[in-house]
Amino acid sequence: MISATDLVADIADSLAAVLPEQRWFAGKGRPVHAVIPVRATDLAGADPRLVHAIVEIDQGELPRDRYQLLLGARSDLPENLGHAWVAGADDQAVYQAVHDPELTAVLLDLMARGAEVNGLRFATEPGVTLDTEQRSRPVGAEQSNTSLVYGQTYILKLFRKVAAGRNRDLELHRALAAVGCQHIATPLGSIEGPLDTAADPETAAYGMLTGYLRNVADGWAMATASVRDLLAQSLLTEGAPGLVESIDPADAGGDFASEAYRLGQVVATVHADLATALGSSPATSGYLDVVADAMHRRLAEVLIQVPELTPYSDELRAAFDAVRGLEGPVLVQQIHGDLHLGQVLRSVTGWIMIDFEGEPMAPVAARTVPASALRDVAAMLRSLDYAANHLPLGEADSEQRAAVALAWSTRNQDAFCDGYAQAAPDPRKQAVLLRAFELDKALYEVAYEHGNRPLWLSIPLAAIARLTAAHP
Ligand SMILES: Nc1ncnc2c1ncn2[C@@H]1O[C@H](COP(=O)(O)OP(=O)(O)O)[C@@H](O)[C@H]1O
Ligand SMILES: [Mg+2]
Repeated sequence: MISATDLVADIADSLAAVLPEQRWFAGKGRPVHAVIPVRATDLAGADPRLVHAIVEIDQGELPRDRYQLLLGARSDLPENLGHAWVAGADDQAVYQAVHDPELTAVLLDLMARGAEVNGLRFATEPGVTLDTEQRSRPVGAEQSNTSLVYGQTYILKLFRKVAAGRNRDLELHRALAAVGCQHIATPLGSIEGPLDTAADPETAAYGMLTGYLRNVADGWAMATASVRDLLAQSLLTEGAPGLVESIDPADAGGDFASEAYRLGQVVATVHADLATALGSSPATSGYLDVVADAMHRRLAEVLIQVPELTPYSDELRAAFDAVRGLEGPVLVQQIHGDLHLGQVLRSVTGWIMIDFEGEPMAPVAARTVPASALRDVAAMLRSLDYAANHLPLGEADSEQRAAVALAWSTRNQDAFCDGYAQAAPDPRKQAVLLRAFELDKALYEVAYEHGNRPLWLSIPLAAIARLTAAHP
């Protein structure tokens, strides 16, 4: 049997072809020159064999991204693992082991035993005993990482793009659990370890095990079902006189407002828990300048790409400048950082917030800088607006559809803020800052849609038109 390191080196060319196709691969659109093995560890067996690998991707730029891989190797690959095949090496088929429940069981076992293998530390959280009989399957819709659900009991998030330093997802889950937060999945275990083979290596987090929530629906699915309901109802009455005025989301069967209200309460409560666990403090005037500068920078960049923004540029600049001189204390603390309806799950007991990794585009160090909780509030208001508007797209321009979207968006944004205000100061009282954060987020969306989904560009543009027309 060749060494784990040689195995990874042998299949590097095949990995260069396979990795860019993965949903979690962050370097899409840039050619992959080479996949360079950084470290590799045998975790179990010979046939099947489980290898943990860190590889670096040469895409011509420095620093190079590093990814965590779990590779399986078998002399006889069963048909149901055919789709996971990567390459042949050492008389075995090498494949992506996350699809092989026999091999992923090893990870649970190593955590239960608190094992350390070649510097990789598998651990449970204090007082946790794991049921190692559970078998895994990958969650359906892969996001930026790969998550494995064990039975109906645990979910193991394997971080794909790995970086040195503390992992925000793991740390915030731990901190929130320590103060008894009820609105997160319970952290149960972790995989951490060295990121390279240096004598004094940098460490990274590779996995986080939490309690799996059964029978949940994510916020996006619930919100968009509600919008669809309202739209269907309004289309039934199409042609009726006084139609646009008669649209009232409160009457629709699938009204979401009570959910949006409870979601607001939960987000406010988690913010309070984060402040209790990790502190909060009044922002310095320097903070507001940094925020305003970043907003102006984004505006300048997006204006170059999207000329449709030009009519709003003066109002946008004024909205961002207004942040600088804000009177009264603005508090800063740890926040979620990447909040949207896809990051909240509705369980039978209420809303749960997941995925505390922070803003995906920001460097890891920048993600931990304390920020105003209003940034999360603004992000959720934008997500509600997206949910309201995602259906009418692609259809003929219809006044009715736009009216339905606006009615739904307004009602649910208000309900979210009402709920938030029930558990924390009303975010609408800090209107200047909240509006600036919403506009900044909408600018980010404009840039994203311009580059990726031009059909959706009208959603953030309409929001910018609306928000710049309204004065706090
Ligand atoms: N504790 C949990 N219980 C049930 N499902 C979960 C849980 N945590 C995550 N999920 C599901 O896994 C998906 C990915 O999780 P997330 O932490 O958001 O990872 P990513 O970084 O890949 O976005 C979520 O969208 C959700 O559907
Ligand atoms: Mg996520």
